[in-house]
Amino acid sequence: MTETLNVLLEDRSYPIHFNSEDGTLKATIDGLHQQNKACYLITDSNLHSIYSDYIENLGIPKTHIYTVPEGETSKSIEHYEKILSFLATHSANRDATIFAFGGGVIGDLAGFVAASYLRGIQFYQIPTSLLAMVDSSVGGKTGINLPEGKNLVGAFWQPQAVFINQKFLETLPRNQFSAGMAEVIKYGLIADKALFDQLASIGTMCFDNPSLPSIIRRCCEIKAEIVANDEKEIADTNGRALLNLGHTFGHAIENVAGYGDYLHGEAIAVGLNLACQLSELTYSTFNESDTEQTVQLLTENGLPTVLNYPLAIEALNNAISKDKKNRASGIRFVLMQSIGNAQTKEGIDEAIINALWKKVGAV
Ligand SMILES: NC(=O)c1ccc[n+]([C@@H]2O[C@H](COP(=O)([O-])OP(=O)(O)OC[C@H]3O[C@@H](n4cnc5c(N)ncnc54)[C@H](O)[C@@H]3O)[C@@H](O)[C@H]2O)c1
Repeated sequence: MTETLNVLLEDRSYPIHFNSEDGTLKATIDGLHQQNKACYLITDSNLHSIYSDYIENLGIPKTHIYTVPEGETSKSIEHYEKILSFLATHSANRDATIFAFGGGVIGDLAGFVAASYLRGIQFYQIPTSLLAMVDSSVGGKTGINLPEGKNLVGAFWQPQAVFINQKFLETLPRNQFSAGMAEVIKYGLIADKALFDQLASIGTMCFDNPSLPSIIRRCCEIKAEIVANDEKEIADTNGRALLNLGHTFGHAIENVAGYGDYLHGEAIAVGLNLACQLSELTYSTFNESDTEQTVQLLTENGLPTVLNYPLAIEALNNAISKDKKNRASGIRFVLMQSIGNAQTKEGIDEAIINALWKKVGAV
């Protein structure tokens, strides 16, 4: 039976359907077709080949399916433009609806197409990676990359619904599953000590762990609550920015290493270690044992907690200073007073950051 959680955003509210293999998605598509609304599905080459039968059974005409190459490079102006032209060539009108079938790359790209085509059409998220299930499919951030940096162009555009079906995780490569676990662990660290303790007692998570469905749901609940309170990340303190725990460091690592050397979740894992260490230095209530437990959990889930090879501290700090999440008032870090209790913090001394970078192998 499908269970539902609602993301409460006034007239932009929507349900997240869990265990949705029972036909809820197909019924939604059938309903749109009955109203003569054209449905389009955007996916990537990996998913198209693995799930061709599944996609066919959804009942969307083959001519309405658009496939981009797998990977981050598809989140580009080039592919964005091609999809817009594809829709225009099919004379897609304002009743057209997009289904984003894939990981975070597809959700962000297809979502941004939906946000901008004819000034905005409806779209649905069907996340297939763990990262997309617990993070990118919920909350309405859509966008693409520029050669100058990640996610520099985009829009807040909420989906009509999110359909989560854990069965897709059976085919997700292990390193991609691990990358998603970095975000799962992040939710425990930000907002839920009980979730963190549960993850610590499980150790290495697998796609078929019986606790995984409720853990995915808990992550979505935390994200939905944070997004409902600060949809566009404009709160002066805390708010949606809390979801960036480990990301200020992680984005800098991705940027300096060059996109592709680390999966997003791998860079975030190193960032979580650094965020723990900075929390220790900032709050007497965050202990060395909290950092050790976090590092152990990340390691058990196949994630790095130090750099794979040395990166230059100057370049890393330069990347931090250009992070698009910075405010006029300075660089904002997310730290923890204790596990499960995060808050934003500005005014951290650069000498402290330099010392931390050295601890994870930067030079
Ligand atoms: N919008 C947001 O709020 C938000 C949040 C976090 C991350 N993101 C974005 O998400 C992207 C990363 O998402 P991702 O990690 O899902 O990457 P991804 O979409 O590139 O998927 C990772 C890889 O796994 C494959 N894959 C996905 N599901 C599969 C499945 N079920 N079986 C087999 N293979 C599968 C994909 O083809 C791809 O090769 C980044 O671009 C990041 O910026 C967005």
